[in-house]
Amino acid sequence: MAHAPRGIDHVLFVSGGSEAIEAALKLARQYFVERGEWERKYLIARRQSYHGITLGALAVGGREWQRKQFAPLLIETHHVSPVYEYRERRADESPQDYGERLARELEDKIAELGGANVIAFVAETVVGATLGAVPPVPGYFKRVREICDRHGILLILDEVMCGMGRTGTLHACEQDGVAPDLMAIAKGMGGGFAPIGALLIAGKVFAAVADGSGALQHSHTYMGHPLACAASLAVQQVIRRDDLLANVRKQGAHLARRLGERFGNHPFVGDVRGRGLFQGIELVADRGSKAPFDPKLKLHARIKRAAMARGLMVYPMGGTVDGARGDHVLLAPPFIVDVAAVDTIVERLGEAVDAAIAEIG
Ligand SMILES: Cc1ncc(COP(=O)(O)O)c(C=O)c1O
Repeated sequence: MAHAPRGIDHVLFVSGGSEAIEAALKLARQYFVERGEWERKYLIARRQSYHGITLGALAVGGREWQRKQFAPLLIETHHVSPVYEYRERRADESPQDYGERLARELEDKIAELGGANVIAFVAETVVGATLGAVPPVPGYFKRVREICDRHGILLILDEVMCGMGRTGTLHACEQDGVAPDLMAIAKGMGGGFAPIGALLIAGKVFAAVADGSGALQHSHTYMGHPLACAASLAVQQVIRRDDLLANVRKQGAHLARRLGERFGNHPFVGDVRGRGLFQGIELVADRGSKAPFDPKLKLHARIKRAAMARGLMVYPMGGTVDGARGDHVLLAPPFIVDVAAVDTIVERLGEAVDAAIAEIG
């Protein structure tokens, strides 16, 4: 807890990212019930986001193709725009202006629903699976925090993929100067091997339950699983002992530089983005118009095959633009990578991208 974002002083250990998000949504609602604010029932999240596969997590997630068939089962969630600077910042806007426009969109949505009816705003600090390592623009989360505070709405950050050191600080939101009320973490907590996730809880949320009904109405048999917690603790100890966050920052900068060199002028790569050892490239059929490749070509799947054939495991995905069109490749190498490994990753990725594009002519 000593290293948690400001105000966070309790933790609930679960078995993965989706469970952490489910717990966050339930606790957020219960927080308001404890306070007698029964009318708070809406969740606001963002398009093109992924928060997990269980029904609550799927409801807040903004991946249309994944939600569509389960739509009748999903709790009501309202989606606003993600921060997606490459495609959605206008040429006449500074990054700050763009962040301000997105903040106004959130304010408008809150006004439409009624501020006193909203439970929480849910967002990935740096977007992972759906967009491919897209960080927020400067100032965006500070404005979001202010807006949430003004309406008494909880801010839930999802750092399941981008947290626990991946971006070079223990929590990605440290670099945005904000602290959430609830935060989901998982994946890197167990070095990617142990089935563990956690919900970090701000003191004010904990106190409302502790001083009210006394118990969170949510549990799983394997909450606080000793084996998973021990594995996670060992991972954290090694990260500290070997100063791996310094390595994430150093190799992250090297990775960004090498990706820029290899793909910065590539005719079919429109954008290279990311933070720390969490980087992505976005493929385009035309750099000028940013037109994506025809989704029927499944370029991302071809890149995955070509990369695997070269002994490289990366995370290519489609639907980058709108859930249907677009392709990106997400890179999240281990915290122990060195310069040589980073160079090999970029070299093989370059070959895989070129081979996949050659395949489709
Ligand atoms: C941002 C984010 N949230 C939640 C999840 C769900 O985590 P899990 O697959 O452990 O349930 C993921 C998984 O990829 C994720 O990337």
